Order: sequence, then C-alpha cells, then structure tokens
Amino acid sequence: MGEEKLVIGVLASGRGSNLEAIFNAIQTGVLTARVGIVLSDKKDARALERAKQHQVPSIHLDPRSYPDREAYDAAIVTTLTAHQVELVILAGFMRLVSKPILTAFPNKVINIHPSLLPAFPGLHAHRQALAHGVKVSGCTVHFVDEQTDHGPIIAQASVPVLEGDTEASLSDRILIEEHRLLPRVIQYYAEGKLKIIGQKTFVEGGV
Ligand code: GRF
Repeated sequence: MGEEKLVIGVLASGRGSNLEAIFNAIQTGVLTARVGIVLSDKKDARALERAKQHQVPSIHLDPRSYPDREAYDAAIVTTLTAHQVELVILAGFMRLVSKPILTAFPNKVINIHPSLLPAFPGLHAHRQALAHGVKVSGCTVHFVDEQTDHGPIIAQASVPVLEGDTEASLSDRILIEEHRLLPRVIQYYAEGKLKIIGQKTFVEGGV
C-alpha cells in the first residue's frame, strides 16, 4: 500500500499558468500530490478550464453572492474541506484571504508573488520593480498571513532586470522561475521539510 498523496486546493483568479505548472510537475513525478479542487472567484478564469482538461473538480464561487469577506471565505473553507484539501495554494488569487481560511488551514496556505518580497507587494509588482529601476527581481513563495503578500518566506528565485524591459518581458522571465519554484516548494511541504520558526521558514536540507 502506497502512502496517501497530499491533497492540495488551488485558488486562482485568472490564467492559471502556475496551476498548469503544478499539473505538469505531478505528471512528471516532480511533485507527489493530487489537486483536489480548483476554486476561482472569477467565472471565466482560464484556471477553471485547465482543471476541467485535467479532470480535476473545479468551482466558481462568486464573492457578490456573500454578505462579506468572512462569509465568502467560510464558503471557500467548506468547499476545500469537502474535497479533503490539506494544503491551500494561492496561484494568482487576486483576493486577500481572511480569518476563516487562515484558521481552518493554519500555516497551510501558500502564495506565490512575482517580486522579491518584501519589495513590491500588492498589485503591479513588475511595474513597481521597473519604476524603481531595480537590477534584479524575481518571485517569492511564502506562507500567508492576513496582510497582502506577507508571511514567512519559504523560497525565492531571482532574475535580472534588463535594459528595455517592459512589464510583459519581465513578467515572462519571472514566470519561468515561478513555474519551477512553486511545485518544488509544494513538494518540500509534502515531504514535511518546511519548518516555520517565528517569521521565518526553514527548508530541511536547504532549497
Ligand atoms: C503570477 O505572476 C503570480 O505570481 C501572481 O499572479 C500571477 C498568476 O499567474 N500571484 P497565473 O494565473 O498562474 O498564470
């Protein structure tokens, strides 16, 4: 009897290229996990289509159908729990997550952000990086707390910012690293290699 695989729930608002990277990593054996559910706040999110293509359950929950953020997030928890989710991945989920999710999944919510945090949290990370003239940018995978793009950092990958870069060209370069980093971090989690101490996360054996 093989060991049960880690069940992940992916929350995504858009394109879903990081979701696709997770599917690829599972297919190629880089990641030993199963996507239990893909959930989106946007009806037309491409991520939902990608889930269908991979025969993975998917659901659209419309925030406008709920009185407030807590009620919406409680509905997310109900859905994730119904699909036996053990780890929640925010992969381009454009909403702040609140207490109901963080309480139901303590230190079990992971986000990916396209900058080297704590630089440039929030929207338009690439635009912010270009506006500051930084020479290096990248992506960050971190555990989530109640603040935007905040919480113990797990892993980062850097890329050069080149002369003449646009938001699109920088985003493309960073995205390649995102697609490598996120599945690797999930695999570390699956292997029980991540330890949070205070505001820091340590990866057993190093990243
Ligand atoms: C990624 O750049 C991710 O870092 C950010 O939102 C984007 C989502 O892209 N949080 P995709 O939907 O995974 O293609």
